[in-house]
Amino acid sequence: KALRALTVPLETLQVLKGHMMQDMRKGLSRQMHAQATMQMLPTFICSMPDGTGKAQGSGLPPTAWVLGKACSLSPLAMPLQLFSFIAKCLRQFLAGFSSPQRRFPLGFVFPFSCKQTQLDKAELTSWSKGFKCTGVEGKDVVQLLQSAINKEELYVDVVALMNDTVGTMMTSSVEDKACEVAIIIDAGTNSCFMAEAQQVEMVEESSGRMCVNTEWGCFGDDTTLSGIMTTYDQRVDKESSNPGKKRFEKLVGSLYLGEIVRHVLVALAAEKAVFTGSNAVSGDQELTLETLGLRPSERDCCRVQQVCRVVVSRAAALCAAGLAAILTHMCQSRELEQLYVNIGVDGELYRDYTRFGEILESVTGLLAPECTITLLPSVDGTGRGAAIVTAVALRLADQRREVDQLLSPLRLSRSDLQRVQALMRQEMDLGLGKETNARSSVRMLPTYVRATPDGTERGEFLALDLGGTNFRVLVVRVAEDSIRMASEIYVIPTSIIQGTGVELFNHIVECIMDFQLKQDLMEQILPLGFTFSFPCQQLGLDKAVLLSWTKGFNASGCVGQDVVQLLRDAALRKQHFTLKVVAVVNDTVGTMMSCGYDDPKCEIGLIVGTGTNACYMEEMRNVGTVEGNEGRMCINMEWGAFGDNGCLDHIFTNFDQMVDEKTINPGKQRFEKLISGMYLGEIVRYILLAMVEKRVLFRGKPCPKLQTKDIFQTKFLSTIEIDGLALKKVLAILRDLDLHASFEDSVLVREVCQTVSLRAAQLCAAGMAAVVEKMRENRGLDQLIVTVGVDGTLYKMHPHFSQNLQQTLQVLAPKCSVTFLQSEDGSGKGAALVAAVACRKAGP
Ligand code: BG6
Ligand code: GLC
Repeated sequence: KALRALTVPLETLQVLKGHMMQDMRKGLSRQMHAQATMQMLPTFICSMPDGTGKAQGSGLPPTAWVLGKACSLSPLAMPLQLFSFIAKCLRQFLAGFSSPQRRFPLGFVFPFSCKQTQLDKAELTSWSKGFKCTGVEGKDVVQLLQSAINKEELYVDVVALMNDTVGTMMTSSVEDKACEVAIIIDAGTNSCFMAEAQQVEMVEESSGRMCVNTEWGCFGDDTTLSGIMTTYDQRVDKESSNPGKKRFEKLVGSLYLGEIVRHVLVALAAEKAVFTGSNAVSGDQELTLETLGLRPSERDCCRVQQVCRVVVSRAAALCAAGLAAILTHMCQSRELEQLYVNIGVDGELYRDYTRFGEILESVTGLLAPECTITLLPSVDGTGRGAAIVTAVALRLADQRREVDQLLSPLRLSRSDLQRVQALMRQEMDLGLGKETNARSSVRMLPTYVRATPDGTERGEFLALDLGGTNFRVLVVRVAEDSIRMASEIYVIPTSIIQGTGVELFNHIVECIMDFQLKQDLMEQILPLGFTFSFPCQQLGLDKAVLLSWTKGFNASGCVGQDVVQLLRDAALRKQHFTLKVVAVVNDTVGTMMSCGYDDPKCEIGLIVGTGTNACYMEEMRNVGTVEGNEGRMCINMEWGAFGDNGCLDHIFTNFDQMVDEKTINPGKQRFEKLISGMYLGEIVRYILLAMVEKRVLFRGKPCPKLQTKDIFQTKFLSTIEIDGLALKKVLAILRDLDLHASFEDSVLVREVCQTVSLRAAQLCAAGMAAVVEKMRENRGLDQLIVTVGVDGTLYKMHPHFSQNLQQTLQVLAPKCSVTFLQSEDGSGKGAALVAAVACRKAGP
């Protein structure tokens, strides 16, 4: 009967595992944390050893204390003397070595429940395992130890404190074979594992993994374990130094198993089932191992053995339930079907009983069949692990310093952004002035578009959209109640983009003819609006002289020519006699017009795609470069070139410099090269290269593939930065690029992407702030309400760009209430609307 009570069937273990998983989830969540029995303590260990942690003070063994063992040698009743005792031991220990030239980093294995806020900051929550020193609970243990060390005048810095489970995990990790779970089955029991950081809600770390100390010894400190706890367990608990606490530990830890056995034997003796011989003590007498030594009968020995076996087996099975809970949790949160994991195990009980390990392994296999485990018995305790953590801590601190140093020039303060805003404003004013225009890097090109759509536009138009990711031909039907469009994307090969102008425009006309044929429009003469997304000096609505190519275009013989004429010439060459180009517009203008059709407040156009640019409605009286003072005109700012005159030199980093130098237009479009899709990936690539060189990334291994221009595309930023994207997806992207990234590498790559895209959004906001503030001033308003029509792949696809842009804009231009309206169908529709206005003006 006694043994049966101590046997836990598999179904019960299964249920227990479920309860544990639930408790783990509670422990991890910010809201439910208080209700959990397992505290799931963050350890601030986010990193596994990568083999580059430098051994400090070579010649000396790693300095690490395993407190449980040191203390068992000495009675430690006095409060706080504990730490001076440790410091004294340390002094003795160090006396054996010649005095070190520099300070020693020390890792402190402290196997008690601590609330940790940093690697070197940990408050003891409560003592356990018979420890009772007063005045330590609630205090920072690192500080207590450090001041004791300082009093001893030792050159030692406590760099990291860790639980013994963590030490074991680290000890058991060998290169290329990370150990991500550890369990201790010693006097007490506990476990830790690498959790997804975003699930560890008690810390604000959203990417990567963090080791969590489960403190599973406390599991069941509510009533969850009542069904399992026998009367023997209850007695053990009652007689312990912390009754009611650490219930799970008391079923598993070796400090208690002997006691359980003792209570079982007491009960059996009372029932006259053991020790009935003359030498045996009677049941009501205190029964100790010494008294058992009094010649028990052979049968007694068998029975005692049996009891021991059952108690240990139960401990192993319960441990397996806990381990299975952790494994299934890991498997689920990593979205894996099968988890392969190495588990470091340490502790007397595990070492001394082969059976313990066997049961642990087989029962875990039954309870978590989706996980394949390898148990790695820790060979040299937690000491080596502590040294590793300490080395990792030092490496990470070094790495952080390097990373911060590399990234800090890309991190812009509010005043940096205000300065950019002011400079943009200055360049805008210069660009608008007739005399000063040549000095400005922002060209402020008049577009001859004088009004946004008023809804009366009608007709059927052709439109071309050239200069973004896609070249498109469209037919747009503007009716009273709707705009209908059909379009086709055509590919323009790079050989043509960078070939001759004749080839480029021939190709365009061929595409138009193909489209007309497919749409059955060959017979009609439709007015055509041409979205041409390059800087043009516009001499009229249908006359635009190309000032320079941007965004990788470089067809010869076009700069300085009227692009409408180039198109007409090509049409003649191709014997297409019915092409009637009536308007050419920049994509910003097309976008503004297209959004303006839906929202009359839309008086700004913004593109953040392959390139970046903006246009807005300026007062004619301010436009010194065009005759007349009445009304407004849309100005194509060509802000991509902002800074080409050197005014932004203070913002450019080495990385920007390198990106610029490798483009086909070095020194040109400098603002664009900080912001737009064509360049962000390149900036990231150069930063990553620098990080490899500084040995903070990819373990410093050379990455030949990363040397390839444009290998890191901007679309990767958009994916990598998705909130909550499983890091294994980041890893997959990097591995596709032949970058053999570790988990930590991918966290770092994400940080780089975030830094680069945030800067882009903030700079874009600074530019936009200058625009809206100018419009507000122009109109003498206290508050401007305006809509920006936006388009571009980066804006549309990047998970945070638009939010970062809008937030920063609000800070920089608080008196403007700006709505961003995303263009749904590109700027072709806008080109058609401009064409419609042109046709209406021209009359039938
Ligand atoms: C839209 C517009 O597709 O966005 C184009 O129709 C514009 O005119 C483009 O050039 C900009 O974005 P991207 O990402 O294609 O350069
Ligand atoms: C480049 C072009 C500009 C265009 C922008 C967005 O900056 O010079 O005309 O508007 O890209 O496509």
